[in-house]
Amino acid sequence: RRILLVNGPNLNLLGTREPEVYGHGTLADVEQLVRETAAASGFEVRSVQSNHEGVLIDAIHAAREDCAGIVINPAGLTHTSVVLRDALSGVALPVAEVHISDVYAREEFRHHSYVRDVAVVHVIGEGIPGYATAVNRLIAVITGQTT
Ligand code: DQA
Repeated sequence: RRILLVNGPNLNLLGTREPEVYGHGTLADVEQLVRETAAASGFEVRSVQSNHEGVLIDAIHAAREDCAGIVINPAGLTHTSVVLRDALSGVALPVAEVHISDVYAREEFRHHSYVRDVAVVHVIGEGIPGYATAVNRLIAVITGQTT
């Protein structure tokens, strides 16, 4: 079984981008953590990062074919994108929303998430380790365990 990991715009810059906000871990570190965490429960991971909304939407649509759930950090699209939200609700897979930083403690414009109510798992402000928490909670949902 497989999980789709989606990282939105600018997350390719992790490690050098505003390290006081996002830390020093890189996107490669995130991908490795997610792969190892999923593998411990017997899941594979397909990973996509893009700065282009349509690329993310195509990857979400493709997940219908062969993924059991989606872990997504939509980055800035969290706060702006109806189409990303519609893609997630359209494929009807369980979704885990992750944010590295505590968006609710930051600027007002980060307080609204279009993804929030199409996601069943939310891990916010736990840094990069939060991706592992999100994977484990999502897998619990997929496999029907109670958390
Ligand atoms: C983010 C928070 C967003 O507000 C921001 O636009 C990002 C990253 C996070 O992981 O903390 O790009 O999703």
